Amino acid sequence: MPALFRPFTLKDLTLRNRIAVAPMCQYSATDGRVNDWHVAHYAGLARGGAGLVVVEATAVSPEGRITPACLGLWEDAQIEGLARVAAAIKAAGAVPGLQIAHAGRKASANRPWEGDDHIPADDLRAWPPISPSAVAFGGGLPRVPHEMTLSDIARVREAFVATARRARAAGFEWLELHFAHGYLAQSFFSVHANQRQDAYGGDATGRGRFLRETFSAVRAIWPERLPLTARFGVLEFDGRDEQTLAEAIDLARAWKADGLDLLNVSIGFSTPAADIRWAPAFLAPIAERVRREAGLPVASSWGIDDPHDAERVIAAQQMDLVMVGRAHLANPHWPLVAAQRLGLPRPTWVLPAPYAHWLERYAVK
Ligand SMILES: Cc1cc2nc3c(=O)[nH]c(=O)nc-3n(C[C@H](O)[C@H](O)[C@H](O)COP(=O)(O)O)c2cc1C
Repeated sequence: MPALFRPFTLKDLTLRNRIAVAPMCQYSATDGRVNDWHVAHYAGLARGGAGLVVVEATAVSPEGRITPACLGLWEDAQIEGLARVAAAIKAAGAVPGLQIAHAGRKASANRPWEGDDHIPADDLRAWPPISPSAVAFGGGLPRVPHEMTLSDIARVREAFVATARRARAAGFEWLELHFAHGYLAQSFFSVHANQRQDAYGGDATGRGRFLRETFSAVRAIWPERLPLTARFGVLEFDGRDEQTLAEAIDLARAWKADGLDLLNVSIGFSTPAADIRWAPAFLAPIAERVRREAGLPVASSWGIDDPHDAERVIAAQQMDLVMVGRAHLANPHWPLVAAQRLGLPRPTWVLPAPYAHWLERYAVK
């Protein structure tokens, strides 16, 4: 049995294999609400065979959306639509996961296919972004955010908690806090974004304070028997990565003591000046280091789309789960392709009969 297809147990959940669908914004909502697109999209991905489907960055407050078309779960009326998504994923045999997020200074942007840049401040669709300090990201995201007050910090932390409660009410069994990619929480940690002089800035302890407090506040209400995870950028590719990585691993160790079940190891994306040398599975050695030094299960992604790479990083225990993104958009049956390429005589999961009759006899190209 290839390592990629061995089940993975975390808390009371067992994933049918080591493949997760990475969270991927669909930028297709109105007022943060799920529609038929989301249900069909996530149901199709779950039918493809992944053990875990993590639903896209879902905003904890209206100003925490990246774009006006992002999903949200800041009010109870948004629970029902996400419950349909969670139920569709579960019915197809995958564990339903949700990523909850606040976009910070990258908020109030156009969709990727409409520019990926800040909406001009005088446009009626725009809103004022907030961040730990009044420092813009730069590049296509030039808006200077409002520096958060202590009451803003408390409000956003409580918004994460309230959203986590709603996620559970909607039936999600795996929760991922989006603390990566230059959004709000990553901005607290990043020296590129955080110039605060108070307890939420300064050294790594201060810059990590919002992330630890928010994590612990969510842990207090998220069921102990279910995984609570975070996605976090452990390096920036900005020339000071040894220091950032050491600080990130210290934070991961502290989170472990606070009850973190798994870290989704990613990139900080806190500066447009980052110099990233993209290559297949290039974060695997970083993920392995975090896994070993923090003593935590880890997932990771970025360029893991060749089944042999996926098998190698799992078999070598560089990570516990592979998060496969764009390859799942290209083919929701990517796990079936992987099973065939890795020599499994038949899938380890039950394909829906209208597909199984054909696909089990057909070598997917
Ligand atoms: C369309 C799209 C939307 C994305 N949205 C999110 C998101 O909501 N949250 C997140 O953490 N990452 C997001 N990402 C990053 C993916 O989760 C993933 O890490 C990235 O695509 C790299 O993996 P891949 O090489 O397998 O595609 C997105 C990527 C894509 C392509």
